[in-house]
Amino acid sequence: MERCLSKLNTLITSEQIETKIAELAARIREDYHDRNPVLVGVLKGSFVFLADIVRVLDIPLGIDFIGVSSYRGRMESSGEIELIQALRTPIAGRDVLVIEDIVDTGLSLNYVLNVLRQKTPASVKVCALLDKPSKRKITVPIDYSGFTVPDKFVVGYGLDFDEQYRYLSHICYLEEK
Ligand code: XMP
Ligand code: MG
Repeated sequence: MERCLSKLNTLITSEQIETKIAELAARIREDYHDRNPVLVGVLKGSFVFLADIVRVLDIPLGIDFIGVSSYRGRMESSGEIELIQALRTPIAGRDVLVIEDIVDTGLSLNYVLNVLRQKTPASVKVCALLDKPSKRKITVPIDYSGFTVPDKFVVGYGLDFDEQYRYLSHICYLEEK
């Protein structure tokens, strides 16, 4: 039976997100301003973060998306990652920056990195807005990390619970009622 999880508690405000994006973008701009990187957003959760950070970055870059699924509406990873949308941009010889909403077990990101590395890019780095290290099952590199979050299920700013709450401009955690 589904638990009732309707209480939302603010964890990170939209102002805090804006400040963090400015900091991350400054570092990324410094590293990539003359490299025309391809930013690869991991669907669906990264779409808001990607949209915000590219506008602050304001450097030449390409954008594409890769779709993976491991949750299917539940709050815990099934551990089985499925590719549900392939990358369309050729990335051989390009500098790739993966844009993730949250790294939890690390299994999705590890899968994405393996898929991308097979396409022989010049480099692959990772920018993740949120890092939830408590449930990590595999070590993954996070080159540009926004916030470390506690072991709570978080929603908003692109992240969902059963496809709800992606539209929130801040990040909340869900609490059992
Ligand atoms: P893993 O466990 O593979 O998780 O690192 C990767 C993807 O799972 C989603 N995820 C969450 N989504 N609240 C969410 O709304 C969470 O607390 C959460 N933890 C993991 C997310 O899409 C992430 O990219
Ligand atoms: Mg994600």
